[in-house]
Amino acid sequence: MATTAPRRRRRQSKLQQAVDIPLDWLEERSGLVGATKYFLFRKVPRDSSWWHTLGSATLTAFLVQAGTGLILAFYYKPDPDKAYESIQHITNDLTLGWLVRGMHRWGASVFIILMFFHMARVFLFGAYKYPRELNWIVGVLILVTGMLEGFTGYLLPWDQTSYWATVVGININASAPFLGPFIAQFLRGGAEIGTDTLSRFYALHMLAVPGALFGLIGLHLYLVIRLGVSSPPWSSEGAGRDRAEVKPTGRAGLTRGRRV
Ligand code: HEM
Repeated sequence: MATTAPRRRRRQSKLQQAVDIPLDWLEERSGLVGATKYFLFRKVPRDSSWWHTLGSATLTAFLVQAGTGLILAFYYKPDPDKAYESIQHITNDLTLGWLVRGMHRWGASVFIILMFFHMARVFLFGAYKYPRELNWIVGVLILVTGMLEGFTGYLLPWDQTSYWATVVGININASAPFLGPFIAQFLRGGAEIGTDTLSRFYALHMLAVPGALFGLIGLHLYLVIRLGVSSPPWSSEGAGRDRAEVKPTGRAGLTRGRRV
């Protein structure tokens, strides 16, 4: 008995070292461990509630879209002669293909709905007010880009519904003043919807729009961390209150409206 305790302690300390040594190595060279700790354990308002989880829920929905989209991209064929068949193959033949495709298809709606709920929370809590106006603007850009992602994805199954929905969508764009006809021409890749349209929508859906979304979401989260999350409006320290009412708790002026 007397010998097992020191042995257990020795084993524990070896285990601790096996974790600490690589983490210390990484921290010394990148500062990433400290940054992750700062992100995970930063202070949030004492009176934050379930309403404040809508942003993280939206982020989760976005990451699910990115993950399932990557899997679908392994099997999808962006060619008018093969696109529909490749989608049928994913749904009917591949192991759990129906699940991945279903998650991506329904997840797209979940993502947009959650984004609206999160935006409504921010609006009703007045969390768009000083000093978070820029983050609201970034949010609006994310909303428009997210809707463009949905629009470009809708054509990819290349069936009757997606074809005609895209015809309608492009015609609505074409009716916008000045730039409308150019945008419609650019999206179609010619006078008619065809092979070039599918290639363009594929490139936008797979590369350009998700890239923009990753960048914008990164900027959004950077601003959330820099400014802190605001207290609800019923708190004496809710966002947008008079500067004199609230004592700053951190970097000059930036944490105003944040109760820790
Ligand atoms: C992909 C979409 C989005 C993601 C992943 C996202 C994520 C987040 C997260 C995690 C937070 C902090 C926690 C919270 O308040 O829920 C936040 C806060 C915020 N978001 Fe978003 N968001 C998105 C879209 C939007 C949109 C569409 C708007 C508005 C147009 C917006 C405006 C804001 C603002 C102003 C804050 C600061 C709120 C506060 O400090 O209380 N976001 N967002």
